[in-house]
Amino acid sequence: MSWVSPSTQLLLIGAGELGTALLPHLSSLPNIHICLGVRQIAKHTQLASLNVSLTAIDLDAPSPQLSSTFAKYDVVVSCTGFVQSAGAMSKLANEVLEAGRLRRDEGKERLWFFPWQWGVDYDVTGDGDGVMPLFGEQRDVRELLRKEAAQAGVKWTIVSTGIFMSFLFEQFWGVVERKGEGEQQEITVRALGGWDHGVVVTDVSDIGRVLARIVAGDVDAEDKVLYVAGDSVKYSQLADIVERVAGKEVQREAWTEEHLRAELAKTPEDPIKKYRVVFARNGVFWEKERTVNYQLKIPTLDVETYAKEILSKD
Ligand SMILES: NC(=O)c1ccc[n+]([C@@H]2O[C@H](COP(=O)([O-])OP(=O)(O)OC[C@H]3O[C@@H](n4cnc5c(N)ncnc54)[C@H](OP(=O)(O)O)[C@@H]3O)[C@@H](O)[C@H]2O)c1
Repeated sequence: MSWVSPSTQLLLIGAGELGTALLPHLSSLPNIHICLGVRQIAKHTQLASLNVSLTAIDLDAPSPQLSSTFAKYDVVVSCTGFVQSAGAMSKLANEVLEAGRLRRDEGKERLWFFPWQWGVDYDVTGDGDGVMPLFGEQRDVRELLRKEAAQAGVKWTIVSTGIFMSFLFEQFWGVVERKGEGEQQEITVRALGGWDHGVVVTDVSDIGRVLARIVAGDVDAEDKVLYVAGDSVKYSQLADIVERVAGKEVQREAWTEEHLRAELAKTPEDPIKKYRVVFARNGVFWEKERTVNYQLKIPTLDVETYAKEILSKD
């Protein structure tokens, strides 16, 4: 069954790392028109070559204005990044629900919503026992959609992707830390939660590939949390991969949840330390066999291939 009709209008909000990576995949779908919602149109005019139109959207605008804008679209995909103020995710979800009601009153099809949940399994992480209120809000958005979306004329799909591949190797994340260059380079791989603990990682372009198949109707996605995994690795495997690719021994350091909590206690507002505590817990790993990309046999970038690319640049 295809959910997109010849005149499907899709609103993609945000043209950052993820939104930009999704665009070519979504815009290559037949019978769909993509409108990119950005705060400043002038910054993004080069994207018009991808056969998309641009519209000015600021999610800080008043709710009635946003709801009536969203109601013009059949599909709304949110890619507005991690850095959002408290309440922003719930505000957007409520505006989309209101847009669904407006469409229902006009006799239009249900609106299809992809909230900004391109990450871990927030049903499992919750707010990390108070460490991550943002993750708690993500869980609350799921509960809101489960409770109210059907009646409001909204169907929803959450695509869990784990962390972005680029994030795994960021120096500030501290999981694969490189010091120095060339022969002299020293690499430390750190396990968040222990060597048997794992993490799912997906390249943003692969998220685009999978999302396009979902939007095309190739997946049973209605009111569901779906899983994607470009790769899913235990930290012991990650250390082995980095060692193999670097061609030399790496230092291995396990950061237990207790250690990470003690580190967070020293600077309780440090956002990276908060993330590390949550990542040492459950909800950040699932087997590849459970994923949409596995079921649809969509090839994805794996950690070893990405590590070769990143480490060759050092
Ligand atoms: N699973 C993960 O690992 C995961 C998931 C999500 C995000 N992230 C992290 O987030 C970053 C990339 O994710 P991303 O592409 O979603 O975020 P991003 O690169 O930060 O881009 C965010 C986009 O949202 C727009 N935006 C922000 N506030 C807005 C508002 N109030 N109204 C309208 N638009 C607004 C920004 O517009 P302007 O251009 O106008 O600023 C920008 O286009 C990386 O740092 C990534 O590591 C990671």
